[in-house]
Amino acid sequence: MTDDVLVVHGGTPLQGQIRVRGAKNLVSKAMVAALLGDSPSRLYDVPRIRDVEVVRGLLELHGVRVTDGDEDGELVFDPANVESASTDEINVHAGSSRIPILFCGPLLHRLGHAFIPDLGGCHIGPRPIDFHMQALREFGAVVEKRPEGLHLTAPNGLHGTKFSLPYPSVGATEQVLLTAVMADGVTELRNAAVEPEIIDLICVLQKMGAIIKVHTDRVIEIQGVPKLGGYRHRPIPDRIEAASWAAAALATRGGVEVLGAQQADMMTFLNVFRSVGGAYEVTDARPPRLGSAGQEGGIRFWHPGGELKSVALETDVHPGFMTDWQQPLVVALTQAQGLSIVHETVYEQRLGYTEALNSMGANIQVYRDCLGGTPCRFGRRNFKHSAVIAGPSKLHAADLVIPDLRAGFSHLIAALAAEGTSRVYGVDLINRGYEDFEAKLASLGAHVERP
Ligand code: EPU
Repeated sequence: MTDDVLVVHGGTPLQGQIRVRGAKNLVSKAMVAALLGDSPSRLYDVPRIRDVEVVRGLLELHGVRVTDGDEDGELVFDPANVESASTDEINVHAGSSRIPILFCGPLLHRLGHAFIPDLGGCHIGPRPIDFHMQALREFGAVVEKRPEGLHLTAPNGLHGTKFSLPYPSVGATEQVLLTAVMADGVTELRNAAVEPEIIDLICVLQKMGAIIKVHTDRVIEIQGVPKLGGYRHRPIPDRIEAASWAAAALATRGGVEVLGAQQADMMTFLNVFRSVGGAYEVTDARPPRLGSAGQEGGIRFWHPGGELKSVALETDVHPGFMTDWQQPLVVALTQAQGLSIVHETVYEQRLGYTEALNSMGANIQVYRDCLGGTPCRFGRRNFKHSAVIAGPSKLHAADLVIPDLRAGFSHLIAALAAEGTSRVYGVDLINRGYEDFEAKLASLGAHVERP
């Protein structure tokens, strides 16, 4: 077994204040967008997480100079010398992240060809890339699958197209945006994802000179332009990390103020948090004025005492309840009175982590049926994608192995909520998406240590 282990002495409520920085699922895409500019870009509030390092490495391999800016968390990208990288060099990053797939359009625009290694990311289902490939072919790309990865060329250039996604995929929508902005002509994307991180990527591209219209009913229209400049951008804060700490506060019967958390992007989560019996208070940011200091906005989440209530929820694309909010919240639901239902409709295999919670005393059954909501695409396909959580259950310590990023954080919360000492193996995976999580845990009073 790995020596990458965290010893967690559970049973202490988390109390205190932490800060979230730019959203992982925007920052990594904004970094890729910098490839499209003909002048340097500046991104602020970039968290120190593994996914950022992977994208930085890939950009540097392709000749983008990446340096630290003056502000803590500021990165500067200079794309003046974009160049091809060798397949071997790129393959060093194989299996480490899903982001490389988004290099396709920008590299085709800048170099006329692209090589994409085997993708990584969390193991939460088959995670196909068929929508991405279909979209790129629609633009005129020629995709060749080779044993070492995908080779793409655009012998006749990239041209605007009309394309409808079979499902509002976040990544495929980003693929279309990053390709269409400099394609020849107009692109109309139907059934697009409209997550706040996508709207923020559109803001980045617009700052660079792109012309993008977001219509009603998930339609995005992009008018290609021949060149783009650099951008300066402060990303939206990480609403997944914010919700993870909120769930940790609830599950440990504590209180955590998440500086940087924004109400508008978390409305659906806040409604569920309140329905479960959690309390929160939103503090709006206030800019400094003559004679008075400014105030950083955020949301304080706490357990107000008494019993938590069971809920039925369904994960969905925006504005629904995010699939990445599900795993941390389920730990809190093990402490709620009665039967809670979670219907996972975004990924077909995102409930495997519940076995670990059961080994700690939780009572969670998973089902192949679409429970508690409307039928989804997984109901007929035999995937265990609904969970019934019976509570409250007293959680006890256990040895846990982290399977993926979000499930990993939920294991950690469960260990913090449980009585006794747990050993959580593979915790380094959490560094993929949670900046300084060990320091944050310590500042919230958690009793954790590296053996
Ligand atoms: N899908 C296909 N074909 C495709 C692309 C997607 O069938 O070509 C399916 C997927 O299998 C899945 C559904 O469409 O069932 C949605 O996938 P989507 O493309 O929206 O996900 P993604 O872009 O790969 C991003 C986030 C995920 C987050 C999802 C949903 C990043 C790097 N990842 O993934 O975040 O869960 O959107 O919001 O932005 C995480 O941060 O831990 C994480 C997994």
